[in-house]
Amino acid sequence: MDLSSYFRALPKAELHLHLEGTLEPELMIRLAARNKVEIPFRSVEEIRAAYRFTRLQDFLDIYYRGMDVLRAEEDFHELTLAYLERVAADGAVHVEVFFDPQGHTARGIPFTTVADGILAGLAEGHERFGITSLLIMCVLRHLTEDEGFATYREAEPYIADERIAGLGLDSTEKDNPPARFERLFAAAREAGLRLVAHAGEEGPASYVADAVDRLRVDRIDHGNRALEDPALVRRLAQRGMTLTVCPLSNLRLGGVANLKQHPLKRMLDAGLKVTVNSDDPAYFGGYLLDNCVAVAEALGLEAADLVTLARNSIEGSFLDAPARKTHLDSIDRIAAMEG
Ligand code: ADE
Ligand code: ZN
Repeated sequence: MDLSSYFRALPKAELHLHLEGTLEPELMIRLAARNKVEIPFRSVEEIRAAYRFTRLQDFLDIYYRGMDVLRAEEDFHELTLAYLERVAADGAVHVEVFFDPQGHTARGIPFTTVADGILAGLAEGHERFGITSLLIMCVLRHLTEDEGFATYREAEPYIADERIAGLGLDSTEKDNPPARFERLFAAAREAGLRLVAHAGEEGPASYVADAVDRLRVDRIDHGNRALEDPALVRRLAQRGMTLTVCPLSNLRLGGVANLKQHPLKRMLDAGLKVTVNSDDPAYFGGYLLDNCVAVAEALGLEAADLVTLARNSIEGSFLDAPARKTHLDSIDRIAAMEG
């Protein structure tokens, strides 16, 4: 079996995916017309040509502007469903997806419009594609902790009945250390939310350490720059901290010059619990399977590595123990057949 078919056959979870980052140019144009929103592009080609980034902030500027076409509950529903259809075709059985409520409420779109649309999409995706999901709301770290708290209060009814399962931290990493959000993350932990944070994407290894020690996260999103601190790497490996790595995102945002230099294999060799994810696939040129195949080919990964990555994605998920066991058993069955 070729690499791509083998990876597709392995049950996997995607754990680092921004729903707004799945907005394909075709849908952007359609929603712009439907909602009568002016966009500075006339064609899919023009939009794709604009997706040239050298660093995170270049991408974020376009990403926040692109969101402007998302206005109604049905827009969020459609966006979510399109992603689930796409990732189910890649062999994903479970996803834990991020959304950025502040990117929408700042434009006057009610929190409930966004969350209800996404949740309807997730429910329909489960029915149609059999894919399970959890929803994680992120706060934007370029804003204040008080603004994060205001959004958190809006989310409380969804947190109380577990429609929102986790809290994340994203956006501009440089000069926005995790420690700024310590009180918010403590409150979220108290309320039973699972916690994740982007760290070590562009920011230093110390931000990864702070996300672990001060925010007490359950997972690190990216984490690449942790490699600059060997003692931290040992600590992350020892406690089995999951790192949600995004190869094509790292490539497009200049974290690595080419995929042959990607640190994923070094991370695996260091004993880190690494997973592969797509981050913002509409912007970075590939969904889950594209990321897996591109990095596996560039780094010469073997079948055993692919199995480890699939296992890590299930073990690092927030699924309950019986669901994890079901997926891990089926990974092991496929691995035994191929082995
Ligand atoms: N928001 C969407 N994608 C992001 C990324 N890769 N890093 C930080 N914030 C983001
Ligand atoms: Zn991300």
